[in-house]
Amino acid sequence: MSNETNVTWHEHSVTREAREKRNAHKGCVIWFTGLSGSGKSTVANSLDHKLHQSKIQSVVLDGDNVRHGLNAAPGMLKDTHGDEFSNRFGLGFSAIDREENIRRIGAVAEIFAQTGVVALTAFISPYRTDRDKVRNTLKDGEFIEVFVDTPIEVCEQRDPKGLYKKARAGEIKGFTGIDDPYEAPLQPELVLFAAEKTPDILADEIIEYLKDKNIIGG
Ligand code: ADX
Repeated sequence: MSNETNVTWHEHSVTREAREKRNAHKGCVIWFTGLSGSGKSTVANSLDHKLHQSKIQSVVLDGDNVRHGLNAAPGMLKDTHGDEFSNRFGLGFSAIDREENIRRIGAVAEIFAQTGVVALTAFISPYRTDRDKVRNTLKDGEFIEVFVDTPIEVCEQRDPKGLYKKARAGEIKGFTGIDDPYEAPLQPELVLFAAEKTPDILADEIIEYLKDKNIIGG
């Protein structure tokens, strides 16, 4: 019997469309921006929870985890290759380090979006140009900029990590909103008033937006 079946094996790559079809929703980046203590991570995590319950593939990238791993601070990398490596690749809070922080996070978030995942990023991302560069790597409608518009007085009063206090005392230099700039978005897709509403309600506002834009069903 001949082995010739005229069947050839095709090495298909899994397309974004195939992933989105299987997931029954689209991939996108939901980019939270706002001051430290504004509520970015809290709302992102509440939204993540709701999306998960609705069987939507989502992921949260936020300062507190990414700055311990992918974008660890210089001191945290020391054990591996010494000071030279650490100073070259570790990231702090200078304008150029923040730019690189956002560039790397943008690249990771884009990969998630390309694979059909709803990627939630929660970083101060204080510079407009850095956020716009990420926006420009994605197609129209795939970058959803969410400005968490909490007045600095409220953030400072909350001061969950005690950092505003240190910044006021001069123990931290270049703290966003105190002695470092924060450039609010000019045309964000969404503005959240996190001083006035609960994270639960704000997460629902984003879900309504995603439904309205047919990114998720329902
Ligand atoms: S970003 O500016 O590069 O986007 P990111 O969101 O990763 O910042 O990290 C911000 C968090 O780092 C803050 O919530 C705070 O806990 C901590 N932090 C430490 N130093 C600073 C600083 N100089 N300015 C702002 N946040 C700081």
